[in-house]
Amino acid sequence: MLHILLLAAAIQAAEPEQEQEGETGASPWQAEIYSNFTGWTPEELAERDPWDLAHRCGGSLIANGWVLTAAHCIDQAKVDKGYRVRLGADYLDNDEGVTFRIDRMVRHADWNKAEHLYDIALIHYVADKDTHVGSAGPIAPIPLYEGPPLEAGVDVYASGWGQAEEGKDKGFQAELTAVDLRTVDCADYPQYEGKTREYQMCATGRTPGDDADTCTGDSGGPLVLDDPQVLVGVVNWGIGCYRADSAGVYLRIDNEHFRDWIARAMAAAPTVNELR
Ligand code: ARG
Repeated sequence: MLHILLLAAAIQAAEPEQEQEGETGASPWQAEIYSNFTGWTPEELAERDPWDLAHRCGGSLIANGWVLTAAHCIDQAKVDKGYRVRLGADYLDNDEGVTFRIDRMVRHADWNKAEHLYDIALIHYVADKDTHVGSAGPIAPIPLYEGPPLEAGVDVYASGWGQAEEGKDKGFQAELTAVDLRTVDCADYPQYEGKTREYQMCATGRTPGDDADTCTGDSGGPLVLDDPQVLVGVVNWGIGCYRADSAGVYLRIDNEHFRDWIARAMAAAPTVNELR
C-alpha cells in the first residue's frame, strides 16, 4: 500500500512550484469524494465537464487512511460501485492530487436524511491500480478539536468546491476555495426553528450583511478553527445558500460531540458500516 505522507513528501520535493497559492492551498487535509462513473452522455457533457459531473462532496483527512465526511455523501452502494477519494488537490479540472478507492465506510446509525440528523460518516480508503499521482500539493491530516462546544462569535473557516450560487445543478467550482465564517447561534435564525439540534451549530459571514456561506457540494468538508487550525465541524446543510439573514448548519466536533464516535468507528471491525 502506498504511504500517502511519504508520497506527498516525494511529490513536494519533485515539484515545489506546484505548491499552493493564496488561501486556497492552506487545506492539506481537504478531501474530495467523487464518483468513479464515467459513462456520461453527450448531452450531459455538453452542459458540464466530467470532473464537475463526478464531484459529490468534501471531506477531511483526519488520520492516514481515514476521511471524515457527511453521512449523506456516502453509503455502502457507493462504496461497492467504486467511489473514490482525492487528496492534495487544488484544481479538480486537471485531475490534480492523489486518488484512492474507498474500501469501506462507517455511517452514523441515527442518520436521518429528511431531517439532516447525525450527518456524519467515516471513510476508509486504499490505493489501487487507478491510484496515480498528478501534481499534488501537501497532504496532512487535521487534528480534531479538543475542547468544550464552541460558543457563538468564534472565527472559523470552511473550504470546498461547492456551488458558487444557490440552486439545482449550478455546477461546482474547479478551484478549492475557503470562506471566512463566524459561529452564530442557530436559535437566532427563525428559519431553523426546531430544525437544528444541540450537536449542530450555525456559521455565517463575519460582518453584518456578509452572506459568506458554504453550498451544495461543500458537504462533508471541514469547518476549521482559525487559530489553532483544528477541525471543529462538518459541513452539514442549510436552507438555500448565501442568503441574507441566514447561516449554514454544521455538525459539531468537540469534547462532547462525535470525538468518541469517530474513535469507535475507526476501531470498529472492518465489517461494521453503521455505528450509533
Ligand atoms: N447539503 C449540502 C451538500 O450536500 C451542503 C449545504 C450547505 N448549505 C449552506 N447553506 N451552508 O453539499
